[in-house]
Amino acid sequence: MSNKLIAGNWKMNLSVADSRKLAKRVEDATTKHADKVEVVVAPSTIALTEVSKELKSGKTKVGVQNIYFVDEGAYTGEVSAVQAQEFVDYAIVGHSERRQLFNESNEDVARKVAACLRSDITPILCVGETGYERDHGETTQVINDQLATCLTMLVASDMEHIVIAYEPIWAIGTGKNADSKAVASAADTIQKTVKEMFGEKASDGVRILYGGSVKADTAKSYLSLDNIDGLLVGGASLSDHEFVAIVEHAADGE
Ligand code: 13P
Repeated sequence: MSNKLIAGNWKMNLSVADSRKLAKRVEDATTKHADKVEVVVAPSTIALTEVSKELKSGKTKVGVQNIYFVDEGAYTGEVSAVQAQEFVDYAIVGHSERRQLFNESNEDVARKVAACLRSDITPILCVGETGYERDHGETTQVINDQLATCLTMLVASDMEHIVIAYEPIWAIGTGKNADSKAVASAADTIQKTVKEMFGEKASDGVRILYGGSVKADTAKSYLSLDNIDGLLVGGASLSDHEFVAIVEHAADGE
């Protein structure tokens, strides 16, 4: 069994100084679990270089929350994977907040995934359904459609270099906990789709995370699922106590 991956998405929160402090507190408290759990923090882009200096030992990895799919040029306000690669190991791509608030399409996300891999950054590709789609029994179809397009530029051997996060939109920032059976079923859908697209070896190699209102007291129920390899944590990752407790659950193998 591979190590669990616990990633904190800090979203558009914290000053640069506070980001640095939180990164240091997370690293100090979780380094002892480094052989059992891979820990990633994804600060706001403005804090990326400072946080990466703070975490230069590499025991805690750094992620960027978004990248643009072109490598360089006249794209005011954007940051490319080529630019980010000096500071990060991971990039969150296709987060539902970007899809919904910034109109990112599956085609955009596909290009972002490919841009990450070109720059040796591991993409954390987010997929998941709205509450309406869940209530209408469309979860499987939505995940299949998102993956079919978002993975379209890849080959089988890429699958061990990507992470897929199942983040049901209705569970993000709402305090609504997804049922662990539903999470296991969504992870199963992801595995089956990857298998259909790229074969069995590729589907065995891909890591699948769950994200959506995860707290220290709910983390265990997801971490104990066979096909869940870790968690993508939003709000709770802004508290070092909560986040460290989640990392400790992962280290305990719960
Ligand atoms: P919350 O944990 O705040 O629900 O956010 C989840 C998320 O969007 C992580 O990317």
